[in-house]
Amino acid sequence: MAIPFKNYRTSIFFLILSFALCLVITSAELQRFDHPTKQDGSLSFLVIGDWGRRGDFNQSQVAFQMGKIGDKLNIDFVVSTGDNFYDNGLISEHDTAFEESFTKIYTEESLQKQWYSEAQLSPLLRKIDSRWLCLRSFIVNTELAEIFFVDTTPLVDMYFTNADEHTYDWRGIVPRKAYIANLLKDVEFALKTSPAKWKIVVGHHAIRSVGHHGDTQELINQLLPILRANDVDFYMNGHNHCLEHVSDLESPIQFLTSGAGSKAWRGDVKGLSKEGLNFFYDGQGFMSVKLNPTDAEIAFYDVFGKMGKIRAKLNIDFVISTVLGNHDYRGNALAQLSPVLRKMDNRWLCLKSFLVNTQVADFFFIDTNPFVDKYFSDLDFALRNSSAKWKVVVGHHTIRSIGHHGDTKEVVDQILPILEVTSYAAMHERERERYVE
Ligand SMILES: *[C@@H]1O[C@H](CO)[C@@H](O)[C@H](O)[C@H]1NC(C)=O
Ligand SMILES: *[C@@H]1O[C@H](CO)[C@@H](O)[C@H](O)[C@H]1NC(C)=O
Repeated sequence: MAIPFKNYRTSIFFLILSFALCLVITSAELQRFDHPTKQDGSLSFLVIGDWGRRGDFNQSQVAFQMGKIGDKLNIDFVVSTGDNFYDNGLISEHDTAFEESFTKIYTEESLQKQWYSEAQLSPLLRKIDSRWLCLRSFIVNTELAEIFFVDTTPLVDMYFTNADEHTYDWRGIVPRKAYIANLLKDVEFALKTSPAKWKIVVGHHAIRSVGHHGDTQELINQLLPILRANDVDFYMNGHNHCLEHVSDLESPIQFLTSGAGSKAWRGDVKGLSKEGLNFFYDGQGFMSVKLNPTDAEIAFYDVFGKMGKIRAKLNIDFVISTVLGNHDYRGNALAQLSPVLRKMDNRWLCLKSFLVNTQVADFFFIDTNPFVDKYFSDLDFALRNSSAKWKVVVGHHTIRSIGHHGDTKEVVDQILPILEVTSYAAMHERERERYVE
């Protein structure tokens, strides 16, 4: 938005001020890359992790299917969740594994896009294959979505306390404490100030997973609170060689693991913490993400390109019956409302019109039988007074239907205007609502 300046002097003042602000902000900022959305404002990309094995362990089959799905979705880029080169990373920027496990594997036309990844930082690799963009932590900004790549490896204690025979390249990471503190501060700042509709964080390690490595306690303690406090929609990771979807129980965050780019089939599902688990596949495959301003579609694919079952199951909290119907009125309507029934079966709660408040959603049960104005002014008030994220109105009669009874004209005339007015007023609130298929 352009701010009209009153005169030249104020404009100079603002210019200096904004320049100074820029300096202050960039010093605390992660490096940012702009990547435009498609013309229609949507965005799609593939997510793959734990892959580089010179084509072995079905890596080539997965790559082939990625090419097909990438073409179908007309993807904008590919996200890699790390563990790019097995077994021990690249020896140097001249290591032929880079081409043997990357350039010569992901050859399908639709995959000739930008790849955003973590680690393997040498700019020389970019010269060998210009698709490669790899930094420790950075941001890809598409306006519709911001994707925050977070270097999670330094947060994991085990690599420092119990490194086995492995050697790690900690150049640029020490002193570790300061590195982590700065990283988390930068991530928090970037998330807090992000205006994006969708906020996606990508790390290598799982926050929540029932796969081989399980949850990562360090991330639960240090990263998760930041994500929860800043409206993050998705946390995507690899590390566990599986495809997986877990819902956070305390926030709308969806944990998505795509770490099945090559070797998989570990067969050891952690018995612990299955809370929120919606989908788990222990074999090879990858994930696709399709975003537009109101919807997100996440899908998983195996080596045959089949879509895994990824419907996020709704964990039902209660059952809704549609209050009193007109047939109920033919009997003793008051009987159904009697508290005696509740005593006989305490699952029963029936009133004429009432409100169930679940914090995330207010349910407005309305008795649509007697078309008395009073009901509607009450409903109007209750809807306006509600600050719930989701407002659900339940009535017996349809508003719109092509079934036997068709539309209900009285309800269309009298109730619909209230719903439309209210939902219009709440529209901005709803922009962050999410839907995962
Ligand atoms: C390759 O994928 C097929 C089908 O999922 C699976 O049966 C087979 O075990 C996989 N091969 C390896 C080496 O993982
Ligand atoms: C309006 O909403 C507030 C907060 O949910 C609630 O405490 C209050 O009872 C409501 N007022 C009426 C008249 O329903």
